[in-house]
Amino acid sequence: MCGIVGYLGKNGAEKVILEGLKRLEYRGYDSSGIAMHSGSELKIAKFKGRLANLSDYLTENPGNSPVAIGHTRWATHGEPSDANSHPHFNTTKTIAVVHNGIIENYHSLKNELSEKGYTFSSETDTETIPHLIDSFYEGDLLSAVVKTVPLLRGSFAIAVVCADKKEIVAARKESPMVIGVGDNNDFFVASDVLAVLSYTKKFYYPENNDIIRITENGVEFFDASGSPVTRELKTVELSADAATKCGYDHFMLKEIYEQPDSCANTVSRYCSGDEIQLDFGSIKNMAAYDTIYIVACGTAYHAGLVGKLALEKYVKIPTTVDIASEFRYYAPFVNEKSLVILISQSGETADTLATLRNAKAAGATVLSITNVAGSTIARESDDVINTAAGPEIAVASTKAFTSQITALFLLAIYLGKQLGNISDEEYSFLMSELHLIPEKIREVLADMSSVKAAAKRIKKCNQLFYIGRGLDRVIAMEGALKLKEISYIYTEAFPAGEMKHGPIALIEPGTPAIALVTQESAAEKTISNIKELKARGAYVIAIANTSLEELRKTVDFVIEVPDAEGILAAIPAIIPCQSLAYYTSIYKGNDVDKPRNLAKSVTVE
Ligand code: AGP
Repeated sequence: MCGIVGYLGKNGAEKVILEGLKRLEYRGYDSSGIAMHSGSELKIAKFKGRLANLSDYLTENPGNSPVAIGHTRWATHGEPSDANSHPHFNTTKTIAVVHNGIIENYHSLKNELSEKGYTFSSETDTETIPHLIDSFYEGDLLSAVVKTVPLLRGSFAIAVVCADKKEIVAARKESPMVIGVGDNNDFFVASDVLAVLSYTKKFYYPENNDIIRITENGVEFFDASGSPVTRELKTVELSADAATKCGYDHFMLKEIYEQPDSCANTVSRYCSGDEIQLDFGSIKNMAAYDTIYIVACGTAYHAGLVGKLALEKYVKIPTTVDIASEFRYYAPFVNEKSLVILISQSGETADTLATLRNAKAAGATVLSITNVAGSTIARESDDVINTAAGPEIAVASTKAFTSQITALFLLAIYLGKQLGNISDEEYSFLMSELHLIPEKIREVLADMSSVKAAAKRIKKCNQLFYIGRGLDRVIAMEGALKLKEISYIYTEAFPAGEMKHGPIALIEPGTPAIALVTQESAAEKTISNIKELKARGAYVIAIANTSLEELRKTVDFVIEVPDAEGILAAIPAIIPCQSLAYYTSIYKGNDVDKPRNLAKSVTVE
């Protein structure tokens, strides 16, 4: 996902832009660039590759510009190259644009502009924007942008500068954008608050189709027609540390170790003592719904699979869980009797956002569970549960997952209690179990020696299988995703009982397998499946809190985790899976926080 940063003020724009782009590196990128206001012209520098190339340029060409815009590009149209990097500019280099999103009608726009004599120096969709603005520009950048924006189909968060004036004009549709307000009459545009959190905690959250003008006199908002509108200035509750590693080697390790607090914070955000306070505006009475649809992608989808077990147990309404990129195209029964629960750490995932809009169009009530306040999914949902995990920067999702499970557990017992499906005694027991989770996470984190040993054992393998039954199967799926996405070892999760229906053909002597055994009711059968693997020479590690004696006799070694009630057992059990992926990736010399080919938030389809 691309990142944009803009600055207007007296602190030297180059430094602010470069630092902001560094904070956005976690989103994944392949090139970067900057456009700086310099006297009566724009200076533009952009480079394929790591941000260091831009940093080196700025070191060799120091400046103190009052206005600049910068960009990290995650290529969608046109390969990574200097020419395809942003900012893009008009022919006379008097207008420059940075963009996050996709202009879906760029081919037709490019043809129309070419017929008017415009020439293009890149393969990108974005380059149509500065030429369009140029075609309307008569000395007023805002009015030229107001005329341009309606012609753009697709998604965009853009920041625009011109040589004539010290100002930034920005606009957004679908793609995320925040406007920061500093204390020294300085102003910021960014893809997310993390980019400029070290400068300010005061932000505007532009609505879809907003156009924004930033000058030394302040920030003005306009709607798509160019009429002034007002937006509320909000203060975020994040420390500047949220954007730093705080002494950890990687963001992922920091976020793994933050999980006792992130789970506790998610509980305390919605609980006063044992009283759960989920004050929904739209979800009035669960009797209004006959189906719950949980929809998400990746790790969030796995959290949904966990949440389903609690919702069906306590709310007693049929609950399905679907992957957003599938569900958005095939959901024939969603209607006004549907409660659609969307789970998204970033709150910007394109397929999940599309699902939201389809569901609302079908009359459903939409509840989202997101980790980014003010994200597009959060703002467009009928109700929101905001997991208080704090910014999650590593591409591999860890603390968001355990916070999502915490939120789903709270939701299930809150609604179950409302429906009379949970007695006071059971409710008190469940809440006491929930309050024990942070300590249970700490217990697992206290000793990583077994995990490190396992990582050393598997780091050279080219395939690995996770197995489990019921809840353990879902933990296996999430463990497999963690390992494959940062160690690049092909890892697959199977229902333990499914191995003999085909996958066991893949087992050779020494093939590594990891078995989840936290559900006592399924332990005996899972141990039988483990024996099937052992009989074919597999090397089996168990992550378990039950049947430990039997397992020690059966597997090559056991990573013991504390037990927990119901779906909460997934939380202590996923910690070794996260850590195993982390250490395996480290031992393989991979870029743990920014694994190849991946971005933190997939805002394109
Ligand atoms: C998980 O480690 C991955 N980074 C990825 O699967 C992620 O969970 C998925 O893209 C969904 O992102 P979201 O929660 O921001 O919607």
